[in-house]
Amino acid sequence: TKKGFIFDLDGVIVDTAKYHFLAWKKLANSVGVDFTEAQNEQLKGVSRKKSLEQILEWGDKSLSEEEFIELMVLKNDDYLSYVDKMDENEILPDVPKILNFLIEEGHPIALGSASKNARNILEKVNLLSYFNTIVDGNSVTKGKPNPEVFFKAAKALKVPPKDCIVFEDARAGIKAANLAGMISIGIGQKDVLHEANYVFNDFTEISIDFIKSLINN
Ligand code: BG6
Ligand code: MG
Repeated sequence: TKKGFIFDLDGVIVDTAKYHFLAWKKLANSVGVDFTEAQNEQLKGVSRKKSLEQILEWGDKSLSEEEFIELMVLKNDDYLSYVDKMDENEILPDVPKILNFLIEEGHPIALGSASKNARNILEKVNLLSYFNTIVDGNSVTKGKPNPEVFFKAAKALKVPPKDCIVFEDARAGIKAANLAGMISIGIGQKDVLHEANYVFNDFTEISIDFIKSLINN
């Protein structure tokens, strides 16, 4: 049967999680708030607005709406200074291998990301043409762990949710995929992503035989 494959972007296709971390840390520190790797982990898959709200809550800070918007702009400008320098070399290992296999086999591919910068980043790394549809932070009203982003992707691919397979590096994203009734594949650490149906450290651990077994299920 035809399966739909949905890829998260940040931390799955490209390692932008490290740039989000640097930009959030700089911003948090600039308003006198600490920001650790462990906190960053919790913000994976979380929208820009929700992330800033969370950071301010951790730091026990409250801002005017104006200041809040200003900080969101500052963070994104800083983040984009890293994105601007990206190219194909930042595609994570073996991602193209899997994408090419899926395309050869005729399975449609969607992006399902919380980022409003998703299109820009896919263009930078030359992967935009691999995707049949892009569902990103501009197209959803409810962020992960709400399954809206993945339901929209499945609909655009014309594949029922139960026949969709999601690759995610964030706990919030795995929860969203599970709530959507899809097969969830965690890319990252087993202890963080234990709710996923399968977990791999990265795509080099995912064999074509494994992908075939998902397709034939
Ligand atoms: C997610 C990232 O993919 O996108 C989060 O994991 C990020 O860290 C979110 O905050 C929103 O991204 P952007 O690019 O719209 O600020
Ligand atoms: Mg991610």
